Amino acid sequence: MLRIINVVGARPNFMKIAPVIDEMRRRPVRIESLLVHTGQHYDESMSDSFFEDLQIPRPDINLEAGSGSHSEQTARIMIAFEQVLLKHPADWVVVVGDVNSTMAATIVAAKMLVRVAHVEAGLRSRDRTMPEEINRVVTDSLADLLLTPSRDAGKNLLREGVAAEKIRFVGNVMIDTLFRNLDRARDSRILERLKLEPDRFCVMTLHRPSNVDDKETFSGILDALDKICERLPVVFPVHPRTRDRLEQFGLSERVRRQASLVLTEPLGYLDFLRLYSNSRLVLTDSGGIQEETTVLGIPCLTLRENTERPITVTDGTNQLVGNKPESITRAALAALEQDSRPGRAPELWDGHAAVRIVDAIEEASPK
Ligand code: UD1
Repeated sequence: MLRIINVVGARPNFMKIAPVIDEMRRRPVRIESLLVHTGQHYDESMSDSFFEDLQIPRPDINLEAGSGSHSEQTARIMIAFEQVLLKHPADWVVVVGDVNSTMAATIVAAKMLVRVAHVEAGLRSRDRTMPEEINRVVTDSLADLLLTPSRDAGKNLLREGVAAEKIRFVGNVMIDTLFRNLDRARDSRILERLKLEPDRFCVMTLHRPSNVDDKETFSGILDALDKICERLPVVFPVHPRTRDRLEQFGLSERVRRQASLVLTEPLGYLDFLRLYSNSRLVLTDSGGIQEETTVLGIPCLTLRENTERPITVTDGTNQLVGNKPESITRAALAALEQDSRPGRAPELWDGHAAVRIVDAIEEASPK
């Protein structure tokens, strides 16, 4: 019997762990799994609503780490997670994505000689000013099993000297969740609630420090938004970090005055899926949304200079536009002129990644 501890902490982790837990539960004779939530995200709209929407079992343990500086948050998770591993000896710790919780749990497990499997290994933006890049590099250098979503990720790992036998190309598990929930999302009433017509609105999400933590940069993005709003309404679900910055920079009134800008709380998974899958154009700085729009064929402008998910640009509907107002406006207006590009799901983004992930963990376990 394999004892596995699955770790999640922040919003983008939840859609990655859901199908993995499901698959483990289909193998009860061979696998016993526990779910640990670090508590990095704790608001109902950033955490609980995803457990409900995605039918994830309640976490067995919540570390309640909460917010803080990166070091404080990481350290609190490490101290609490060490106690979990002392109390619950495990054969594997499974971590997903690139948030502080991913790295913190990995360091603890590696020091306690517990094997780590990293789901979504090998992505690289090569931009070390991005906290997630540090988390990715540290996690991948310690993990025992590196489960990659795309071929480029495997190449990155080999270039860094990771042994080939530790790497397994399994595909993109977020797309398992996307496919499983497309039908359920049709029951969402978000378009009716916000009085939107399919294909007659844009969606924007923004939370990266590089876009929202500097007043001038953030104001510039809002200038571009004003121009886009002249063409179509833009729905903007506001992340807690972004809401804090709007207030701190005295920009809240300005966004409230823009009549074509529809501000909402962060949305649950099913509402957000119904929303963006019916939109004309998405503007984002999220990682996952670049992938989801690629699979669904929704044009996506990423407000960053680089991406750790280059396949969404080469094969998908994604375009990197940076965060300068002129380039955002130019790209957005051009995208609104064109017919949308057909989406093409990259190799192994087929809805069956979780089966390959759990198979790989079983195969890598000592007999
Ligand atoms: C984290 C991840 C990022 C991911 C994002 C998705 C890291 C380094 N970053 O960034 O990769 O894309 O989640 O949301 O792990 N806050 C709340 N309620 C919450 C959570 C946070 O109000 O439930 C506020 C706090 O003021 C906090 C701030 O948001 O200081 C930022 O939260 P934090 O978890 O530190 O980083 P995110 O920006 O959410």
